[in-house]
Amino acid sequence: MPELMLPTVVVHESFVAAAREFHAHPEPPPWFVAGLDPGELAASDAFERYVTRLLAEPLESTPRPEGFVPATTLWWIDGQEFLGRLAVRHRLTPALEDAGGHIGYDVRPSARNRGHATAMLREALPVAHRLGIDPALLTCDDTNLASRRVIERNGGRYIGSRGVKQRFLVPTT
Ligand SMILES: CC(C)(COP(=O)(O)OP(=O)(O)OC[C@H]1O[C@@H](n2cnc3c(N)ncnc32)[C@H](O)[C@@H]1OP(=O)(O)O)[C@@H](O)C(=O)NCCC(=O)NCCS
Repeated sequence: MPELMLPTVVVHESFVAAAREFHAHPEPPPWFVAGLDPGELAASDAFERYVTRLLAEPLESTPRPEGFVPATTLWWIDGQEFLGRLAVRHRLTPALEDAGGHIGYDVRPSARNRGHATAMLREALPVAHRLGIDPALLTCDDTNLASRRVIERNGGRYIGSRGVKQRFLVPTT
């Protein structure tokens, strides 16, 4: 049974394989992996630095680009296999109100349509609640039927669209 865990070097090999999968997939890679070079991450020290950086992101004191907020990244892991990732943003900005919301997620292409995103989001809602978020705002493109389904299966209520982004409120209790 997969578990939602803090980033860990235990899944090094599998994470690098997943990064290669995202890059090879016909859709543009999600932002979390777009800037990563899987070849570089294959080196243990580079992967350790990446994990350390992710683990620091929830801290207010961590320097971050303008417009970014503290965020907790969690990985959906089965044994030593990396299946997906999710980030809980600790608060909203005007940009996140429009697109992004409190929680974003990605499942590696080879693991899709097996219920992982639905389960991963369900497990993340108490994490969001502990961060004082209730309800959580989630958004998805109006063409992203799979993501809409994931949100609705977690109790998401459609509250309208801004441009191509559909917006939902998901109770975290
Ligand atoms: C969206 C995404 C996270 C879904 O992950 P997943 O693990 O495949 O999702 P699940 O298996 O939990 O659920 C997918 C649901 O969508 C449905 N679905 C999948 N493809 C679909 C499609 N083309 N049309 C309609 N429904 C679709 C599935 O049947 C399933 O619904 P069900 O549980 O009622 O059967 C994954 O496709 C992904 O990582 N996409 C790229 C990144 C992304 O879009 N992230 C979300 C940004 S808002």
